[in-house]
Amino acid sequence: MRLLVTGGAGFIGSEFVRMTLGEHPEDAVVVLDKLTYAGNLRNLESVRADARFRFVHGDIGDAGAVGGLARECDVIVNFAAESHVDRSLEAPGQFILTDVYGTYALLEAARAAGHERFLQVSTDEVYGEVAVGRSQEVDPLRPRSPYSASKAGGEMLVQAYRASYGFPAIVTRGSNTYGWYQYPEKIIPLFITNAIDDEPLPIYGDGSAVRDYIFVSDHCRGIDMALRQGTPGEDYNVGARGEVSGVNVADAVLRLLGKAADLKQFVRDRPGHDRRYALDSSKLRALGWQPEVGFDEGLERAVRWYVDNQDWWRPLKSGDFWDFYRRNYKPLQSGAR
Ligand code: NAD
Ligand code: TYD
Repeated sequence: MRLLVTGGAGFIGSEFVRMTLGEHPEDAVVVLDKLTYAGNLRNLESVRADARFRFVHGDIGDAGAVGGLARECDVIVNFAAESHVDRSLEAPGQFILTDVYGTYALLEAARAAGHERFLQVSTDEVYGEVAVGRSQEVDPLRPRSPYSASKAGGEMLVQAYRASYGFPAIVTRGSNTYGWYQYPEKIIPLFITNAIDDEPLPIYGDGSAVRDYIFVSDHCRGIDMALRQGTPGEDYNVGARGEVSGVNVADAVLRLLGKAADLKQFVRDRPGHDRRYALDSSKLRALGWQPEVGFDEGLERAVRWYVDNQDWWRPLKSGDFWDFYRRNYKPLQSGAR
């Protein structure tokens, strides 16, 4: 199989590329990536010399580029996205261009090339917050942030292509993912790298919002399972039943690094902060997939990796990173806590 992996220089996409080339000797991979602030060719260093690998620098919204690449490949696995909720709150436009229009451009290219399978990587955030229970694939999509609305918009186009053209698309909805090579803006890599430097860990609101964490290799094996064993036209949740609150993430990171609890800093809450996500992944489990890495073990692996690979993340925490950081994080109003 020749796979076009879009967004393959990012966090999850690069793990998927390393995994595919490592575990499927008959496969070849073309990565198309725009190399935004979150894309990083260093994530692909270990596969660069592999004759089955090729990198193309470009935008998924560029119809000419994606049309040509789709004709060279058998299947598109679309990881490319703007992916950070806080950035979507500040500037939604690029999220709509990449996550909605870009998905449309890929669907068109795959349809014109006659592909027999397409995989859209989506997120549990499209369900919106769930107070109790676990989201199932049949549940309505109720996105609440510009990021999740853009991802849901991409999914709506996938659904329309299925219904209108019989287009053979599979959607995976993964939960909050963590591990190595994650740009240090999401909670886990941010808290680990801040703690290493004895910087405060900024916890939104009272820190009680819950996310359902999954280790990156488990998420990628789930996508691989859906791609190879899933049924076109179906959606699959990919979650590991790893529900943890923000303040518990902070405590666990500080404990693993032997840092003091007073590094925890409660800051102004994220507007529209979804209180809880949780996934029911029994449909994917029925295909034979199950997660292998629990939260405690995964967090320990991630902490060790960021301690051992400071040359990877230190250059990322400079210039633009701190400009966004200063705009995004605000102290709690005095008296609030
Ligand atoms: P990331 O931000 O680390 O990587 C995104 C990649 O896409 C980067 O390499 C970036 O350069 C590239 N990209 C962005 N815009 C592009 C464009 N217009 N054309 C081509 N490339 C472009 O994101 P991630 O965390 O690896 O997430 C990958 C996918 O998984 C996304 O679709 C995201 O919505 C989804 N997802 C992420 C999580 C999570 O917790 N990180 C959970 C579930 C689903
Ligand atoms: P994040 O990693 O941004 O993922 P998402 O919002 O896409 O789920 O946030 C995960 C949780 O951690 C969410 O409840 C918000 C919280 N959070 C903080 O408390 N502080 C932070 O600095 C960040 C980035 C997130």
